[in-house]
Amino acid sequence: SGRGRIFSGMQPTSDSLQLGNYLGALTQWVALQEVHDAIYCVVDLHALTVGPDPAVLRERTRRTAAQYLAAGVDPARSILFVQSHVPEHAELAWLLSCHTGFGEASRMTQFKDKSAKQGTEGTTVGLFTYPVLMAADILLYDTTLVPVGEDQRQHLELTRDLAQRMNARFGAGTAVVPEAHIVKATAKIFDLQDPTAKMSKSAESPNGLIELLDDPKVVAKRIRSAVTDAEREIRYDPVAKPGVSNLLTILSALTDRPVAALEADYAGKGYGDLKKDLAEVVVGFLTPFQERVHHYLADPTALDDVLAEGAERARALAVPTLERLYDRSGL
Ligand code: ADP
Ligand code: NA
Repeated sequence: SGRGRIFSGMQPTSDSLQLGNYLGALTQWVALQEVHDAIYCVVDLHALTVGPDPAVLRERTRRTAAQYLAAGVDPARSILFVQSHVPEHAELAWLLSCHTGFGEASRMTQFKDKSAKQGTEGTTVGLFTYPVLMAADILLYDTTLVPVGEDQRQHLELTRDLAQRMNARFGAGTAVVPEAHIVKATAKIFDLQDPTAKMSKSAESPNGLIELLDDPKVVAKRIRSAVTDAEREIRYDPVAKPGVSNLLTILSALTDRPVAALEADYAGKGYGDLKKDLAEVVVGFLTPFQERVHHYLADPTALDDVLAEGAERARALAVPTLERLYDRSGL
């Protein structure tokens, strides 16, 4: 069929996803599942690279899955599962690590940034091979399309290089070479306190975040305290006015109203008006979203069943791919 095979995942590294994860990724995932064969994963093996407490990791894995579901990822249309439930990810990662150059892996900028912060002794080999595990996630499903943000581009390039290398070494058709799926005009959301930095669940301070599972009162307060600028004009200008532009981006994404129309709406009004309206819209979105998350979390058996069925369907695709790659490798 003309459908592509999509793979994407997020790490269960926080109790709550943030609005950037929702607007930049989850809404796209929901749209993509209508037109492609989509596989969405909670990548708990990747999360081990930050050394989580076991009970906390287990809880965050379930909460992340519940947030995928609440956002509209539909297990009837997509495959939804937890990475560690499909052991073939780790098996393929080993195989690929034997095709990855040490220098090549050392050049990954995300590794360089993170390891520079942690020092040589504080940096694990797992963090070093993280992009190889990500390549395994993608190649294991003969994925054709990977929705990626700018920060993951280099890792996707490595994945493509590895697939091409396997094909050159072991023959055409050994691995499917995936393409980046660039989603049109994905909203990029910035930190409310530092609107030049992307909103991120790994931010040092939570004050700039809109967390999907946070108390709506706290969220409203953070929006009202968002950093703006010394002017008064509500105008979209990400360079000169990053704070106000970020608020307009969020409002536009959640109301489906173009930014230009919002600029007209707010002509002659103040930042306080914009923040008050945005807080209302965000809370109006979060309230039913949180109800859906709590509905999924309130029935752990049902959630486990969904994830177990997803893992079974994922394995049905993963096992033959791994067998093919093992066979061609002489295993
Ligand atoms: P985080 O920085 O919150 O840990 P990840 O790096 O795990 O997020 O990214 C998970 C997904 O969410 C990716 O598809 C990424 O592109 C998207 N994403 C993360 N933060 C933002 C943001 N601020 N704006 C838009 N998309 C984002
Ligand atoms: Na991150």
